[in-house]
Amino acid sequence: MTESIAPHAPPPVVGTTLEGLITAGTRGTPGATGEFASLLNSVALAIRIIHTRVRAAGLAGMLGYTGETNVQGEEVQKLDVFANDVLCAVLEKSGRCAMLASEELDEARAMSPTGKYLVAFDPLDGSSNIDVNISIGTIFCVLQAARVSDHLAEGFLQPGTRIVAAGYSVYGSSTSLVLSTGYGVHGFTLDPSVGEFFLSHPNIRCPDRGKTYSVNEGNLGRWDDRVKKWAAWIKSEDKARGLPYGHRYVGSLVADAHRTLLKGGIFAYPADAKSPGGKLRLLYEANPMAYLFEQAGGVATNGVDRILDLVPKGLHDRTPLVLGSKDDVAAYRQFAVGER
Ligand code: AHG
Ligand code: MN
Ligand code: MN
Repeated sequence: MTESIAPHAPPPVVGTTLEGLITAGTRGTPGATGEFASLLNSVALAIRIIHTRVRAAGLAGMLGYTGETNVQGEEVQKLDVFANDVLCAVLEKSGRCAMLASEELDEARAMSPTGKYLVAFDPLDGSSNIDVNISIGTIFCVLQAARVSDHLAEGFLQPGTRIVAAGYSVYGSSTSLVLSTGYGVHGFTLDPSVGEFFLSHPNIRCPDRGKTYSVNEGNLGRWDDRVKKWAAWIKSEDKARGLPYGHRYVGSLVADAHRTLLKGGIFAYPADAKSPGGKLRLLYEANPMAYLFEQAGGVATNGVDRILDLVPKGLHDRTPLVLGSKDDVAAYRQFAVGER
């Protein structure tokens, strides 16, 4: 069954544009005002602008570090700053965003007093790969703004089950945009010659089981024993279970997640001795990916519990993240709770 993009919208036809599908979503949603559509189109515009700069980064002197560090204590790359500035500017001009939260901003930033939505984003994911021309991306999610204006920022501290839309882009061999508004997951590919995203992957489904695992094996010595046992199991010989799995690890969440979403398997960034709470951020990395994987029939946990049930205490909370096919995440969980 081909999912649509809204309750009563027609199933998407390959080749339609993102804007066309979003508009069909508005028409297919009783009482829709078009504000949600306008917000999503604004995010897509920001992604197109970031795309153009990423493509020319090597030439436009956009490689390398700015010399600053962000709230995460990480060195900030010029493209991180550019991507953050573009998203902030475009969301402000949209008038649809009440407040935004970004990996690159210490605090949430108020936008339009009449905006109905909160937007959290990782403007440039995979920064360490910028200088070596490996796929990077942008990750975002949208929540409804509870109009308790002076406590608007608390609106971000909702569990991911309250997300109303999420997506990511991959600036790779082509620029993809994967999006869900709660009615399935659809993939778009940018045709840079016309500057439009065209539907290329309608109704993406994450297979129930895959053949690859994606984890930074360099952290092996820092994992707890149960994760070490899982890592040994997935590399063991067991023809009946399709083991050993192939190992794939790009080091950009968007790239590793995109492959896992389309082909199945498992991505894991477990807690380790260096990052006891995990490395990835709940609000604008784990939650958007968890929303998309669940919409595509996949699963997302912190190893044991469902990511979307976790309640953030702060904008930049970190969490262990295990994403992927139902069977593969279930097997990981058996090791994580000590059943295997
Ligand atoms: P960001 O560039 O936004 O800080 O994210 C980097 C993250 C994520 O993209 C990736 O999965 C992870 O860092 C890789 O971490 P390691 O280099 O420690 O494997
Ligand atoms: Mn990131
Ligand atoms: Mn980032």
